Amino acid sequence: MMDFGKIIDHIYQQLLLEKNLGQVAGYIPELATVDSEKFGVCLINTDNQCFSAGDWQEQFSIQSIVKVVTLSLAYQKLDAQLWQRVGVEPSGTPFNNLSRLESDYGIPRNPFSNAGAIVVCDVLMELFSDPREVVISMLRTLAADDDINFTQAIAASEKSEGYRNMALAYFMKSMGNIKHEVEDVLDFYFDVCSIAVSCEQLARIFMYLAKHGRSADGKYSYLSEGQAKRINAIMLTCGFYDEAGDFAFRVGLPGKSGVGGGIVAVMPGEFSLAVWSPRLNEKGNSYRGLRFLEHFTDATERTIF
Ligand code: DON
Repeated sequence: MMDFGKIIDHIYQQLLLEKNLGQVAGYIPELATVDSEKFGVCLINTDNQCFSAGDWQEQFSIQSIVKVVTLSLAYQKLDAQLWQRVGVEPSGTPFNNLSRLESDYGIPRNPFSNAGAIVVCDVLMELFSDPREVVISMLRTLAADDDINFTQAIAASEKSEGYRNMALAYFMKSMGNIKHEVEDVLDFYFDVCSIAVSCEQLARIFMYLAKHGRSADGKYSYLSEGQAKRINAIMLTCGFYDEAGDFAFRVGLPGKSGVGGGIVAVMPGEFSLAVWSPRLNEKGNSYRGLRFLEHFTDATERTIF
């Protein structure tokens, strides 16, 4: 059997010797205060074994990684009907891109762009009377850990500078693809992006996508097998915005990044792997996180390809 612990430790130590490049996300002022040299890794396999390194138990801002969870909740309820409001095609554009949305008549290309995730938040507000509670409960149940919470300071900080998201949401509202008040939808969106999680919690949460829709402990079913397959496909094709092709090329796993510096990647049937390093490349994805995952799939040959 492959020694994941040894491989993770080796790559982790190697990367510490390399120069750490990129910048911590600056457009959300509160995120810019994070220590740029934090670095954590946690892998959990389907036998519930856990392999980790560095700052794997320290919490950071989930940011766009939460879009997978909000999408799963909406998809669980609406199934294919959801695709009337948001597409499943890679955009080839940055996460906060505005220009495509106009020629697409306010229907975002995919649910992981900011526009797409804002539509999904609007959908959840229609489906649930207390959508914040539904999202946080899903995360806590999947992680089997109640220590997962919103971070008010981060949500407020993002709101104070959230002009691009406002532009996206108002444009979609004008096209009829946002049903609630824009401010309420954005408050919900900023809140879910602000949730604090550790690599350990993230790896455990994402086991439902390694286990074909079921939680790590097998107790809960969140998605059908067909739905889990499709969410993994969207992660592979859209999880890294205009770097999705490069991620598939270098890493070869479905994954999702966030501007908090987290990345989670899933090997269906085998494991979920979370990495955190706050310095981002110019596409908004963790520089060291990407390097770690590339080395990991090269060394273990555990990839979907
Ligand atoms: O809306 C935003 O810009 C952030 N709350 C989330 C963006 C994000 O994480 C992009 N991912 N790499």
